[in-house]
Amino acid sequence: MQYPMSAALYEKANLTAPGGVHTSIRNVEPHLIFTRAEGAYIYDADGNKYIDYQGAFGPYILGHNHPYVNGKVVAALGRTDLYGVGTTDLEIELAEKICRHVPSAEQVLFCNSGSEATYHAIRLARAVTGRVKLVKFQGCYHGWHDYVARNMLSSWDMIGKRDPGSAGMLEAAIDETLVCDFNDLPGVAETFRQFQGEIAALIVEPIPHNIGCVMPKPGFLEGLRKLCSEHGVLLIFDEVITGFRHHIGGFQTVAGVTPDLTTMGKAMANGFPIAAVAGKKEYMTRFNTYPGGDVWFAGTYNGHAVGTAAAIATLEMMEREPVHEHVFRLGEKMRDGLREIHQRLGVEAYVAGFGSVWTTYFMNFEPTNYTDLQHNDAAKYIRYRQKLLEKGIFKLPMNLKRNHISYSHTDADIERTLMIIEQVLQEEGTIA
Ligand SMILES: Cc1ncc(COP(=O)(O)O)c(C=O)c1O
Repeated sequence: MQYPMSAALYEKANLTAPGGVHTSIRNVEPHLIFTRAEGAYIYDADGNKYIDYQGAFGPYILGHNHPYVNGKVVAALGRTDLYGVGTTDLEIELAEKICRHVPSAEQVLFCNSGSEATYHAIRLARAVTGRVKLVKFQGCYHGWHDYVARNMLSSWDMIGKRDPGSAGMLEAAIDETLVCDFNDLPGVAETFRQFQGEIAALIVEPIPHNIGCVMPKPGFLEGLRKLCSEHGVLLIFDEVITGFRHHIGGFQTVAGVTPDLTTMGKAMANGFPIAAVAGKKEYMTRFNTYPGGDVWFAGTYNGHAVGTAAAIATLEMMEREPVHEHVFRLGEKMRDGLREIHQRLGVEAYVAGFGSVWTTYFMNFEPTNYTDLQHNDAAKYIRYRQKLLEKGIFKLPMNLKRNHISYSHTDADIERTLMIIEQVLQEEGTIA
């Protein structure tokens, strides 16, 4: 593939934006300028077409520019938008849907991004418990703010150490956030014992998709629920990726474990900007949207017609059509196909995944936490993805990234992808 238009436009982008991109990890080689998206496909400025598995990091559960969702958004904008006072009919309708489907959601509030949602959930937990500390897991990502931006994709020598994700963070915020290993229940129990009475909340991606797909061991999420209840710690499921993608009621429905608070975003509105924090009414009424509430909750764009209409339409599609059945079936087809190819070609790899999400780690066992992922051959992982990209299969060429299937992907897309993957793996020398 040739990218002359992308290269020229990237130069231009660099003149007015630092690095030419508007989110840090978008700066990858080759630097593409995208100009069109439809269903399972994206197109760059040079007219190259890709089957898209990046899916903008997860929102596109139905596919790009989905006509039903876009139609509902356009219809909403024909009559309404944003008021900054009172409530809209769209907010009421969406809140009812979420509270009906998501087990932990007795009440819900809308904001605009997953980072806002986790920020609000943590601040609420601190107010409810009167405690300060937070527990997160190494490798999990919960947004860019100071409460959570530590020990994310740490370099291997920083595991178990203080690893702030950014310059300029509040030192106190870094230190009040404790870090445990995913799937290590005794480690969490020990941390709870050591900081007895000091921990406000534990926040977890129920499946840590920010490192690909590491599944919770049987009993792990149940164990967290039990420990949190015993120690008066609020359990926050960060379902910004898993929510709505794995089930309309979130992964909590699949796991049968109900957290105290849930954060949601991404697949909630098929790519339109909206997110949510939800939980028990006794906690949610501490937000100062409720008269007398003492936990600040605000945002100029909260509940905008674009996001609420898009989310209603996305959830309607999930209610009416076999969205999850389709993406789960294609996910299985992809994983089965990959395993068969690996076996036939003698490729050492572990195919991880759940539902519509999958990734191929170049290692020979199932990882159970971030530390295990040191065994993944990162250079090969990235090179493999670059090779696929050159052949029109878009998976982000970056270590430990997951891939997403949407309702717009077809059997033919999966078959074509598997064929190209086989070609790339056969040219093993070029990806080693
Ligand atoms: C699990 C999880 N939580 C929170 C966030 C932050 O969401 P946003 O990028 O919308 O702020 C992300 C983003 O990738 C995420 O994956």
